[in-house]
Amino acid sequence: MKLRSNNWFGRTGKDGFIYRAWMKNQGIPAHEFHGKPVIGICNTWSELTPCNAHFRELAESVKHGIYEAGGFPVEFPVMSLGETLIKPTAMLYRNLVSMDVEESIRANPMDGVVLLCGCDKTTPALLMGACSVDLPSIVVSGGAMLTGKFRGKDIGTSDLWRFAEDQRNGKISQQDFEDAEACMARSRGHCAVMGTASTMASMTEALGLSLAENAAIPAADSRRKVLAHLSGMRIVEMVKEDLKLSAILTRSAFENAIITNAAIGGSTNFIIHLLAIAGRIGVPLTMDDFDTHAKKIPLIANLQPSGKYFMEDLYYAGGIPAVMKELTSFLHGGAITVSGKSISEQYENSVCYNRDVISTVSHPFNPVAGISVLKGNLCTDGAVIKPSAASANLLQHAGRAVVFENIEDYKARIDDPELDVDENCILVLKNVGPKGYPGMPEVGNLSLPKKLLKKGVTDMVRISDGRMSGTGFGTVILHVSPEAFAGGALAIVQDGDLIRLDVLNKTLQLELSDQEIGERKKKLKYTAHASVRGYTWLYQQHVEQANLGADFDFLKGGSGSAVVKDSH
Ligand code: FES
Repeated sequence: MKLRSNNWFGRTGKDGFIYRAWMKNQGIPAHEFHGKPVIGICNTWSELTPCNAHFRELAESVKHGIYEAGGFPVEFPVMSLGETLIKPTAMLYRNLVSMDVEESIRANPMDGVVLLCGCDKTTPALLMGACSVDLPSIVVSGGAMLTGKFRGKDIGTSDLWRFAEDQRNGKISQQDFEDAEACMARSRGHCAVMGTASTMASMTEALGLSLAENAAIPAADSRRKVLAHLSGMRIVEMVKEDLKLSAILTRSAFENAIITNAAIGGSTNFIIHLLAIAGRIGVPLTMDDFDTHAKKIPLIANLQPSGKYFMEDLYYAGGIPAVMKELTSFLHGGAITVSGKSISEQYENSVCYNRDVISTVSHPFNPVAGISVLKGNLCTDGAVIKPSAASANLLQHAGRAVVFENIEDYKARIDDPELDVDENCILVLKNVGPKGYPGMPEVGNLSLPKKLLKKGVTDMVRISDGRMSGTGFGTVILHVSPEAFAGGALAIVQDGDLIRLDVLNKTLQLELSDQEIGERKKKLKYTAHASVRGYTWLYQQHVEQANLGADFDFLKGGSGSAVVKDSH
């Protein structure tokens, strides 16, 4: 077996001395790390990323598996992205983390990598970086929290949006609100609904990048540690088989992920992250692929925010294996996975134990599934909506625009009693795209005007160039491309303009002539913040539009695992 790590530990002379001597200062004899597959454990543990705060323990289980299989583990940290605490938005740093991961893997003596992923952006960031190196790699997700229990009801992150509206509206007290906090987040793990973290864990399993059941085992369940141990064992074998990411991440694997995501009602963020991952591994993928491959797929998982249940319920019902078994006739069964087995071999004996949680394709939980890609003069490069989380009566709707130039403008005026708005209006928010904010925050599911909430209005059409939390819901159109800051038509929308949404026919149209749009564009003055230094400057200069995955233009593709200047 030819080991990459041998380029370090197998050297003679001064270099070999240095490489080995400083490993020995950790009390490790040379036979432990020299001549065995050296496996990096890429850890996004951080106490500032509460969803991943248990990852050092999880890493120990991975290490036990690596040792058992005859490998040698080396745990290393990378920047961690906690969705809840980091400002202005974790998405601003996804590409930065991917660079950290890519360079950390390539620069160090590793033969294979275990990626410990959890909170939303940690999964795509680690996968993007790892794809650009393309070593044998396996994902171990951290698992979701146990289902929240609050005053006799099951709750999760999607309820946060309801609690917040109820509190603004005076329906619940501040004390009720605070009581709900502790009841929702009652165990280790990430958000317990089919939000972005769960979507990313499911995507990983559907792509074939994790062992079976990785997506849904709760963080607090001992079987999560067992899976981590088995993944540690398996990565050592993958190194011996030279089973790299590029062998697993074929076009078929990406299509399998799109189909599975439609069936589980995954987050709209799925599109942006999958596009970015495809860009790194060199598989052509476009927004249109998400429509084409998800078109005939119904929603079979009854999970919040599109349905009723939680990730814990999904696991007990059979998890992603049961979902993929049900989707057999749609999937590319021959796509291989990290286990070395094909998708069809891996899931042929999977069983569904609760049809209320995972329905059949023939009697789906909801015939409307997935994410729809919209096109029109307001979004010439596309926009997205999650119909299963929207109001059916608003999927075909025309309304008068109420425009906010940026998020500060929105916050200042949304609850103004004088705001000229009714429930038929369409709320438009500009300059929250990748370049315009910068960082494309999750603000697209705008809270409704207080005066309409008081009237009992629960949903309105909302349009922006930003994103929405995977836990969010409503008739919310996101990722409008090109974004306002990059000269998209969104920039010229004015109060009172008529906008026509037709999700059934996949269109989003601003009812203005091309000539009028052109005239208004000529008069545009950009008001969004332009960064002048540091990482934010780099981001604003190089980030691509949402329809391309919002990666940096200079990070597309990969550089492989070879170290260019290979000497001390
Ligand atoms: Fe980390 Fe939701 S905040 S997954």
